[in-house]
Order: sequence, then C-alpha cells, then structure tokens
Amino acid sequence: MPQRTKGVVKDMGKVAVYPGSFDPITYGHIDIIERALEIFDTVIVAIANNAEKRSLFTIDERVEMVKAIFKDTPNVVVDSFKGLLVDYVAKTNAKVLLRGLRATSDFEYEFHMASMNRSLNPHLDTLFMMTSKDYFFVSSRTIKEVASLGGAVEGLVPDLIARRLKEKFKLPVTKKREIGWDD
Ligand code: PNS
Repeated sequence: MPQRTKGVVKDMGKVAVYPGSFDPITYGHIDIIERALEIFDTVIVAIANNAEKRSLFTIDERVEMVKAIFKDTPNVVVDSFKGLLVDYVAKTNAKVLLRGLRATSDFEYEFHMASMNRSLNPHLDTLFMMTSKDYFFVSSRTIKEVASLGGAVEGLVPDLIARRLKEKFKLPVTKKREIGWDD
C-alpha cells in the first residue's frame, strides 16, 4: 500500500503492520509503535473491523482517535481492515506483523495467532516486542472497566482517550485535565 501524495507514490521503506482492536488505544500500544519506528520506516496501525466482536468505540471512532494521536508522525499510517489479517497484509508491502507481549499469559493466544497467520502466509513473520514495564498491566479491556467505574485512567491512555471514555460512560470530565494543569 504505497502512499500517494499529489500523484507521487511515496516509498514506505521497511514496513510493519501492527494489527489489533485498539478499543481504545493505550500507552502500551503507543510505546510499541514508537519503539517499532526505531526498526521500521513505516508502521501501519491496522484496526480490525470485526462485526462479531463487540467494541465500545465504533471502527470510525477508533480510526479517528489513533489518527489524531499520530497526526504529527507521518510514518505511522492508520487504517482499518475487515476479514483475514493476512489478506489485508497482502495489499501492503509489509513482511512483518508486530504484536506486543505483556506477560506469559499473552503467549499462548499470540503463539496460536502467529502460527495460524504463518500457516496462511509462510512469508509473513510476527515480531513480538515486550511491553515496557510501565505498561505491562495495561490492556484496553481493563482500561474500559476502570473507566466505566469512574476510575482514573490518565497516564495509561492519552488525555484524548481518557476524555472520550468519560464521554462514552457519561462521566464528568476531570476539571484538572480539561484545562491542562500539570500532574
Ligand atoms: O487487539 P486484539 O483484539 O488482540 O487483536 C486481535 C486481531 C484483530 C489482531 C485478530 O483478531 C485478527 O487478526 N483478526 C482478523 C481475523 C483473522 O485474520 N484471524 C486469523 C488470525 S488467528
């Protein structure tokens, strides 16, 4: 999927696809993306549009939020996909899938997924990056649970996401964050 800017096809260099639900994106995901940019020229954040999986944010909301977070990082491309991940990756020039590993408990699921993807496309490798120690307990699922119960998720997700979670759960937006005070 080379990028086209005013008719000129831009070479994306070494590309990795970072797939996920990103419902919503957390600092754990962002940390993986930022570290991957040290290795790859372009990271495509591929947000799964899976009708079977109930998500808090719609696919358009998830894409829009991730785009807003990376608006100043041109080598992060935000996209959505439906169906098989390997079919989506085939439309890009990526040879690598990127996934974060938080704990050994992630391993079995990830191992099965990577093995299935490799069986579907033997030329596609999955690269695992260990989540930084500050975020190994952070997941979209726990973030949603904490936010739904009125707990603070600031520092674990960007302020934009914390605000959007509060809007979703109809909780008051924290004054301190609204006017941008320091921690
Ligand atoms: O953030 P998640 O929910 O752990 O991401 C999982 C995701 C979206 C990467 C995975 O469910 C996926 O690749 N879905 C697309 C369908 C597919 O290709 N399935 C076969 C791989 S096992």
